[in-house]
Order: sequence, then C-alpha cells, then structure tokens
Amino acid sequence: MTRRPYIVGNWKMHGTRAMLSEARAIDRAAQRHMKVEVALAPPYTLIHPIHREAEQIGVGAQDCHHAEGGAHTGDISAAMIADAGAKFVILGHSERRTAHGETDSRVQAKAESALAAGLRIIMCCGESAETRESGNAVAFVKAQLRGSLPAFEQLLGELGDRLTVAYEPIWAIGTGTAATTDDIAEMHAAIRSLLVELYGEEQGNDVRIIYGGSVKPENATAIFAVPNVGGALVGGASLTADTFMGIALAASEPFDV
Ligand code: PGA
Repeated sequence: MTRRPYIVGNWKMHGTRAMLSEARAIDRAAQRHMKVEVALAPPYTLIHPIHREAEQIGVGAQDCHHAEGGAHTGDISAAMIADAGAKFVILGHSERRTAHGETDSRVQAKAESALAAGLRIIMCCGESAETRESGNAVAFVKAQLRGSLPAFEQLLGELGDRLTVAYEPIWAIGTGTAATTDDIAEMHAAIRSLLVELYGEEQGNDVRIIYGGSVKPENATAIFAVPNVGGALVGGASLTADTFMGIALAASEPFDV
C-alpha cells in the first residue's frame, strides 16, 4: 500500500494557549492538503484543547511513561494521553534519550504500553556526530531500532497504521543543517531492510520512514524526493503555520502535477 506522506510537527517544550491560534491555522491549511497526513505533537497541556478543535490534523504526544499508572510523580501514562485525545505518541526522541537517560529497552516498554492503549507510535532513532564520523552510523541506528521497536505480536492489524519510524540524526536537529540526501537515502534504505527483516516483506514495506532534523520549506522538496522517505518530523519549522504548511505543500506537490 502506498501511504500518504506524513508530516508531523514536534512542538517540544514550546506552546501555551496563545499558540492555539497557530494550531487552528495549521488545521485549516491541512484541509487544503488532503493528500498529506498532517499531525501535531504539542506539549501535554495543549493536547486536549487542540484535539477538541481540530477537524483535520491528528494530535499526539511527545512521550509517555511505560507503566499503566501508579506512584510516578510528574509522569503521564499512554492511557491518559489517549484520554486527552492523542492518537499517537513520539517515542525515543534523542532529547529524551540524552536528557532523561532513556535506554532502548525503556523505549521498547513505552512502545508496548502505547500500543496497548490504542495509540500509534512514531519511533525515533538517530546517531550522534561522533558515531557518524567513526563510520558506524548505519550499524548504530539498526541496533538502536532492534532494541527499541516493539515485538511483532504487539503490532496487531496493519503495521503501517500503528508504526512510523523517524530517522533523526542528532547532529542535524535544531542546527539548521539537514543531513545530505545521500546520507538520508542510505539510512532509510537500511531501516527499510531492517523492517522487512523484522516484520516481513509486506508489513515491513508498509511502514513509513520519516526524516527529521532541520527540515524546512527550502529543503523539503529535495528530501521528499529521496527513496524511502515517507514524510518529515519537524521541530522548529512546525511552530508557525506558514513554515510548517510550506513543508506540507512540498510533500503534496508530487501528487498535484
Ligand atoms: P528540528 O527538530 O526540525 O528543529 O531540527 C526536529 C526534531 O527534533 O524532531
């Protein structure tokens, strides 16, 4: 199955209710780009208000705890974000792996908990600058994904409905310099072959692999032309409707000709 390009905004720790007008503008614009699947992952506090108003975009979270509930002060469970209106959750983002010490096995436990709560998952992976310079980027990312992806049995139904993989090289996040299209092509092909190995030909090919790391309207067209790129995970450029929808437009263009 060929799935629509998936353009996901990761607002990180940005956004108070003043940002709801921007979410509204993104939702309105998304109604004009139906060939692209547009989604936003705002901070937890904005999930419900955006979900309540959104007509077109999907709303998700940037993380969740692996446990169903209990004595975990300051944490939030997958069921809670689903209850607030989230349809998906981003897991294993490098900022969480680095700043919160999240290991592959912890990320995997979160993935299983999120699936049990009925959420879709965007599983992040990506290497540091040092790993890339040492020539081990592909091996590192494959091992990271092997340790973080949920077991096949957890992914009931159409795999492409439940799972998206986001390749985000750490050195490209927030730096203004995206990975080269050659590097993206090599890594996305390696991730594709891993998905086929883990989940079989049909299911493995059904999963979208999206790229993240300094995606902006200016480089989006070139990135979306790379084989095995099924969309983008966008940080900084998702904070305004103008730049975010510029990226969505680039994703819809191949279909408009
Ligand atoms: P960026 O962030 O687009 O600001 O580089 C991407 C991300 O961290 O998801």
